Amino acid sequence: MDSLVLTLVLPSIRLLLLFFIVFLIARLWFKVETQLPLPPGPFSIPFLGFLPFVGQDFHITLAHLSKRYGSVYQLFLGRNRIVVISDSNIIREAFRQPIFSGRPDTELTKILQGLGIVFSDGDLWKEQRSFLHGVLRQFGTNKLMNGRNGFESKIKEQVTEFLNNLQSFEEKPCRIRPLLASAVSNVVGSVLISSTLKNEEKKSFERLLSLMEEGFKLVTIAMPANFLPLFRYMPCVNRAYQKIKANRAETCGYFKKIVTDHRKTLDPFNIRDICDAYIVQQEKVQKDGKKSYFSDEQLIQIMNDVFSAGMETVTSTLDWAILFLMLYPKVQRNIQEEIDMVIGEQREPSLSDLPKMPYTEATIYEVLRRSTVIALGNAHLTLNDTILAGYRIPKNSQILPNLYAIHMDPKLWKDPELFDPNRFLRDGKIFKPNYFIPFSVGRRMCLGDTLTRMEVFLFLTGLLKKYNLQVPPNEEMPSTKGTTAVSTVPKPYNVYITLRRV
Ligand code: HEM
Repeated sequence: MDSLVLTLVLPSIRLLLLFFIVFLIARLWFKVETQLPLPPGPFSIPFLGFLPFVGQDFHITLAHLSKRYGSVYQLFLGRNRIVVISDSNIIREAFRQPIFSGRPDTELTKILQGLGIVFSDGDLWKEQRSFLHGVLRQFGTNKLMNGRNGFESKIKEQVTEFLNNLQSFEEKPCRIRPLLASAVSNVVGSVLISSTLKNEEKKSFERLLSLMEEGFKLVTIAMPANFLPLFRYMPCVNRAYQKIKANRAETCGYFKKIVTDHRKTLDPFNIRDICDAYIVQQEKVQKDGKKSYFSDEQLIQIMNDVFSAGMETVTSTLDWAILFLMLYPKVQRNIQEEIDMVIGEQREPSLSDLPKMPYTEATIYEVLRRSTVIALGNAHLTLNDTILAGYRIPKNSQILPNLYAIHMDPKLWKDPELFDPNRFLRDGKIFKPNYFIPFSVGRRMCLGDTLTRMEVFLFLTGLLKKYNLQVPPNEEMPSTKGTTAVSTVPKPYNVYITLRRV
């Protein structure tokens, strides 16, 4: 009898004991988790938070605050909790986790209705990002159509066109940014929809570009509404907001026509551009009856995304490159020596030259570091309560990586203000430290890093093979302090170009 009782009761006691222990551990864990501190940070004015102190250069203000509050701190913009990170290891640790991969839902992103890649999240973002990632890689490595329509040939066409346009500016002061902007827009137009400023559709493409450019300015004006929705009712913000909506309707109309035309002329055996590749995949998933997010609306927003992500950033990077090369003639000469040695006089630069030109590659990285055109990355959103670097980070916190602060940290880079490509060289070979992160890191890292590297390399080598760049005679040295809106751009400057060999 006794043994029967023992056999029946003992397992229940064991089970109870187990429950009790699990309960104790869970309680202890919960206590530790909720007792972890929130990140430190500056005081907040009721309702406005830190908004009145943001200043002209928010990334610089934030870099100063990190000296006081450390590499993870928080502040409020309106009612939004912003967690600023200025340590590349902590950014890596955060951005590799799905919980940190959301995007803030703001007044401006609402206009996009959750479409596209840059401001979407969840399953739609995962599927569409993975598609774009694959296609960019295929075009980038010439794996589509035997390289016929690959990025390299499309960029080279635009380099030739750019150099032709430069001829009329030889030996006179030249404002080079508009020429760069057209060339880079042509590259994006060509890889995305096979449209450039030379096509018969020139007028509508020109209109698209001016809408995009205006869009960047309008977003800067309307930005405060992202943090304090009430700002939307301020006349200037409201005007900008309404104009953004109207311009978006117009660009979407333009892209819709492009999609219709592409569908009519589609040849699956000759994929011309990203638009074609999308339509082919869209038709495939439809035929397979798979649940997916491929749609014309989504394609149109991806076009908007790639134009906005790829035009301004690369134009500004090239703009900075030319400024630094002008200010550092020794760097210019070193690149030209490499060009003469590896490429020679008879042919134009190719991407296959890049691995043999470490100094040129190092210069491109130094331009990306020194300019950090996207100074604060793109805000992420935490999808749940979580922990980072010993701090409690509540759900719906916006996470801002201060890429500028990392790239200008004197503990990581000796004399960070100085432009010195040798930082990226060790024993004559490329050395990229893991705290060099101009394209951010992790699940939402930029999809255009390879395309950018290809563009900057081909444009710069094409330019320096033919020309010397200098500050125009009798003009002051241009400033290396930029102006930050959507990206950080150099203040307008003139360059004086002369043929290298006459
Ligand atoms: C100098 C050039 C560029 C820089 C410095 C740059 C930088 C960045 C940064 C910092 C982000 C935010 C990543 C994050 O949220 O953590 C980003 C996102 C993105 N970039 Fe770029 N970018 C450049 C060029 C391009 C180009 C040429 C393309 C065209 C394909 C592109 C496409 C994208 C896309 C699609 C995203 C959104 C990724 C996502 O949210 O999943 N970028 N970029």
